[in-house]
Amino acid sequence: MGPRGIITIDGPAGAGKSTVARLLAATLGYLYLDSGALYRLVGWQAAERNLDLGDTAALSAFLEGLQPEVAADAQGFHLFLDGQEVSQVLREPSVSREASRVAVLPPVRDWVTARLRHLAANGGMVAEGRDLGTVVFPQAEVKFYLDASLETRAARRRQDWQNDDAPPSPEKVAMELADRDRRDATRAAAPMRVPADALVIDTTNLNPQEVVRQCLARIREVLPETAGLEMKTG
Ligand code: DC
Repeated sequence: MGPRGIITIDGPAGAGKSTVARLLAATLGYLYLDSGALYRLVGWQAAERNLDLGDTAALSAFLEGLQPEVAADAQGFHLFLDGQEVSQVLREPSVSREASRVAVLPPVRDWVTARLRHLAANGGMVAEGRDLGTVVFPQAEVKFYLDASLETRAARRRQDWQNDDAPPSPEKVAMELADRDRRDATRAAAPMRVPADALVIDTTNLNPQEVVRQCLARIREVLPETAGLEMKTG
């Protein structure tokens, strides 16, 4: 096997990053890295402990004590706290809001970035988030930025809704997404941006297989050792 690269996928919620990242990781035999899950973990735990986010000393003590175990493979990115898997609770809509709130804080970003870089020490990663190609792995071999219309992204979010209650109306989901996008894109620390050297794909009218096909075409140009690989759909 040749050198194993780092592939980044950035973009807003509902653009299709997770599905595409998993399919790419499975096809390449790479690990899948979900940076949003780490922000979610911090947001969830900070809320559970009623942490005052403005108290710098308390925040840094909290982050120092937060030591999740991570199990990553091509399909999943699993987080454990004290031996218990917490991946499921992290998908709850309330946690999305908490994640976006803590993601503006530089100490939190440093905490997540350090973990991601540690996990990627041996390459062979497909990493998704908002600042993977710009800040965390600016040296990544291949970078993608996925986007889609707000309406399409909201419809996808409603389809994947992971809560016992029915999802809110399409308008409400769209409003919450737009709110989160605004916070992610306008914050001072590592705002969501299109990396200068990224291939931008608008996924509004594409299914995941078509997006993966376009990504693989780019990856094969840059990483010749991947030339013979066929897309894995599971
Ligand atoms: O991708 P997601 O919905 O799981 O991300 C949760 C929140 O974390 C989202 O509001 C943006 C933030 N985030 C970030 O700021 N930087 C990343 N690299 C990944 C996620």
